Amino acid sequence: MSETKMRAGTGAPGRAAIAAKTLRTDKWWLQPLVTVVLLTAWVTYATVRTLTKGSFFAGKEHYLSPFSSPCVSTNCPPAARDFGTWFGHLPWFIPIAFVTLPFLLGFRLTCYYYRKAYYRAFWQSPTACGVAEPHAKYSGETKFPLIFQNLHRYFWLAAMLISLVNSWDVVQAFRPDNGHTFGFGLGTLIMLTNVVLLWLYTLSCHSCRHITGGRLRNFSQHPIRYRAWTFVSKLNAKHMQLAWTTLATLMITDGYIGLVASGHITDPRILH
Ligand code: FES
Repeated sequence: MSETKMRAGTGAPGRAAIAAKTLRTDKWWLQPLVTVVLLTAWVTYATVRTLTKGSFFAGKEHYLSPFSSPCVSTNCPPAARDFGTWFGHLPWFIPIAFVTLPFLLGFRLTCYYYRKAYYRAFWQSPTACGVAEPHAKYSGETKFPLIFQNLHRYFWLAAMLISLVNSWDVVQAFRPDNGHTFGFGLGTLIMLTNVVLLWLYTLSCHSCRHITGGRLRNFSQHPIRYRAWTFVSKLNAKHMQLAWTTLATLMITDGYIGLVASGHITDPRILH
């Protein structure tokens, strides 16, 4: 590509003429490779589980998979429809939780951390620091389609509401036998752990940090917002870890409920 056409990367005007893709000698490719493998595996699992619509609700224990919540169609058993019946039977290509999944997908896709991860791993823009990217142009996130990344703050609001739905599912998991008793089992604790981590991931969001402490001239006149911002800032430092951990706990929670619902395992009850 001629220098006039190459407006970004190592071939851009004014850059040192270095032919090598990188001068790094460490394993710079390992992290993006691991990201590709883990994200591809997770997306494949989630796609299969949401489209097959199998074993997503353990009725006796009242365990509802986070991949199928809220359950508001006639595909769900009546006991799983805590928020009513909004739709009839859904065709195979529409997931049970199609009301919330687009928002959750948008939330994760526009997340500042995931952006970094998939820009590097899938888009190679750049693959790693100090490694030449293959793209000739760079327009940042100011133009279509990446300008939509700015919707993140609105997806965050939706994610907060969806976390409330997930929390309600955990409350219901403490009320097995269709709400007639109080008790919990191993599955309840798995669901509880998942929802606590989902809250921490959602609250550790960069947008949340801005919402709590942004646009202030000083903190001294806003002590409550300062405390909230301090709390969120501490969580924010762990945002990457929470992003990965919640992918794992979502998968574990769904997998465990799938095994209980399909009868492959019996949920150990801790309190009946
Ligand atoms: S920055 Fe990751 S969820 Fe907002």
